[in-house]
Amino acid sequence: MSPPALRSTAALLARWAVTAHFLLFIVQVGAAVLFVGGRADAYPFHAGNGWAVAALGTVQLVALLVAGRDRLGLLFLLLAFAMPGLEFAQIGLGRAFAVTGHVSLGLLLWGIALALLIKVWRPDWPLSHG
Ligand code: HEM
Repeated sequence: MSPPALRSTAALLARWAVTAHFLLFIVQVGAAVLFVGGRADAYPFHAGNGWAVAALGTVQLVALLVAGRDRLGLLFLLLAFAMPGLEFAQIGLGRAFAVTGHVSLGLLLWGIALALLIKVWRPDWPLSHG
């Protein structure tokens, strides 16, 4: 097991990686709402930002694994692994114009991102001990 200081830094980085991913996800949903509402210029932004969201979903997974699987428990570990895979599938659905699947999966992803955010901001998310 790593020393407490090292684990503390890793936990802090994981917390902010998950937070950054969540914020970028909100921006992605906001862009979707804008272009569905008629702002055509929000579409290329949504298309490009989708890759950034999925990349950050991957960074988030790595950061959570470094911070320690034991902190996550099985359910959150599965959710952390599912996130980037489902996000790349989400990009595929978007590019295929599979609207129903794309919006449904978008809502599921939103739930997972929120669950992970709550997990890392809980008071008992250990910053200095494992
Ligand atoms: C609830 C959230 C979301 C909504 C409502 C939404 C909505 C849409 C809509 C209406 C389209 C047009 C094509 C289609 O009808 O399927 C689209 C395209 C797309 N979306 Fe989303 N989206 C959401 C989340 C996401 C997320 C999380 C990602 C990436 C991880 C993403 C990536 C893309 C991409 C790459 C395209 C295709 C752009 C292209 O033409 O190349 N979307 N989205």
